[in-house]
Amino acid sequence: MGFYFCKYFLIAILWVLALENGGFFLLSNGGITSTFVRNEEKSIDMPFDSDVFKVPPGYNAPQQVHITQGDHEGKAMIVSWVTVDEPGSSTVVYWPQDGTKKDQTTGQISTYKYYNYTSGYIHHCTLNNLEYNTKYYYEVGIGHTIRTFWFVTPPEVGPDVPYTFGIIGDLGQTYDSNITLTHYEMNPVKGESVLYVGDLSYADHYPLHDNRRWDSWGRFVERSVAYQPWIWTAGNHELDYSPLIGENKPFKPFLHRYHVPFQASGSTEPLWYSIKRASAYIIVLSSYSAYSTYTPQYMWLMEELPKVNRSETPWLIVLMHSPWYNSNTYHYMEGETMRVMFESWFVQYKVDVVFAGHVHAYERSERISNIAYNIVNGECTPVHDQNAPVYITIGDGGNIEGLATDMMDPQPKYSAFREASFGHATMAIKNRTHAYYSWHRNADGYAVKSDSMVFYNRYWYPKNDSAIQT
Ligand SMILES: [Fe+2]
Repeated sequence: MGFYFCKYFLIAILWVLALENGGFFLLSNGGITSTFVRNEEKSIDMPFDSDVFKVPPGYNAPQQVHITQGDHEGKAMIVSWVTVDEPGSSTVVYWPQDGTKKDQTTGQISTYKYYNYTSGYIHHCTLNNLEYNTKYYYEVGIGHTIRTFWFVTPPEVGPDVPYTFGIIGDLGQTYDSNITLTHYEMNPVKGESVLYVGDLSYADHYPLHDNRRWDSWGRFVERSVAYQPWIWTAGNHELDYSPLIGENKPFKPFLHRYHVPFQASGSTEPLWYSIKRASAYIIVLSSYSAYSTYTPQYMWLMEELPKVNRSETPWLIVLMHSPWYNSNTYHYMEGETMRVMFESWFVQYKVDVVFAGHVHAYERSERISNIAYNIVNGECTPVHDQNAPVYITIGDGGNIEGLATDMMDPQPKYSAFREASFGHATMAIKNRTHAYYSWHRNADGYAVKSDSMVFYNRYWYPKNDSAIQT
C-alpha cells in the first residue's frame, strides 16, 4: 500500500513539473544549446614560414597594411603600415576611382621596444575630407617599393542607410583563424567593415610576449583590413603587461600599432571612443581600463550616451571585450563589475546590441536586464526587458587557446542560443527599423547561417524581436 502510494505520488509530482515546464526535457528553461559536434582538436598557430605571413617582396616594402575609420562621421581613414629596413616615406598617395587628380598626405613614424624586441617603423597617416560612398585607391611605400590597395568610404550618415558589418573576435593566428577569416571573406553577405571585439595576435602566449607574432598577425589579416576598416576594441591579450621583464606599460604594442580616432568623440584615451558609420552609432569600451564612478571612461560614457541622435543614427551598437552575459563557465562573470556600472544606462538609452569576445564560443542572449538588484532585495536574476540590448558573445575567431566547451547546465533563461564552435557573424542594417543578423560556423559552407535573428530597432520599432514571445 505504502509502495503504491509513494509511486503514484511521485508520478503526480513529475506530471506537475512537466506541465509547468512544458515537458520533461525542459527542466532547463533556456534557449537552444546547439548539438552540433565539432572538431575539438587544439588550435595551433601557423608557423612563421606560412604563406599567409609572407613578407611582401622588395626593399623596405610596406607590410601589415591596415585601415580604420579616421574621424567621427566616416569621411576620413587612418592608413597604417610597417617598414622594416629603414623609416622610408610616411606619405600616402590616394585618388578616387573616377578621378584623375591624386592627393597625398604624410603621417607619422614611431617605433617601440618590448624587452628584447624592437619594432619596425610604424606609420600612421590620416586621409581627411574623403567623399562618401566612393572607391579610393591608395599607395604606400613611396620612394622604394610601392604597394597599391583600395577601400570604399561609407555612405553619408543617415537614418535609413543600409550597411553591413562583419563581427569577429579573438582571432589569433592559428589554422582555425585562417578558416574564420576566409569564411568572412567568402560569405555571400558582404561585410563592408569589421567590428572587432578584441584579442588580436595572442603574441603574449609566447615567452617574452614574442612581438614577432604581432608582426605576423598584421601580415595575416592585411588581406582584409587593408581593404576595409576594422573597428578596434582592446582585449586582455592587448595588455602585454609583464613587470617581471620590465614591461609595465599596459597596451604598449597595441597602442603603437593600432590608432583609432578617439579624440573625434571627445575621448581622452584610444581605448574608448565612438564613431558614426552609415546608420549606426558605435561605442567602443575598454574592459581593462578603469570604469568606476568619476573615472575618465565613466565620465566620457555618461556624456556620450545622451549625444546619440537616433534620428540620425538609429542603430546603437556597443563593443567591449569581456561579456556581461555569458553562460559558459569560461570567464564566467568577469564582465560583472562593468555591467553593474553601465547596464542601467544601456537600458535607458535603448542600446540595440552589445558585441563582446573573450569567451571562445558563440552565444546570443534574449533581451534581458538585471538592474533591479540592489544587493539586499534578492532580485538578482536577469529578467526579460524589451528596452535592453541583445548580448552577443563572439570570441570564436579561432585562436591558440582553443574552444571553451564547458557550459552552465541547465542553460539559463537569458541565453537564446549557444554553441562552442569557431565562426564569425554579419549584421546587415536594412533601414531604421530592421537589421538582419547571422552567425556562421566555420564547419559549414560559406553561405550557411547557423544562428540568425531579425533585429527590430529599439528606438524606432521596439517590438519584441525574440523567437520566444514573452
Ligand atoms: Fe580575451
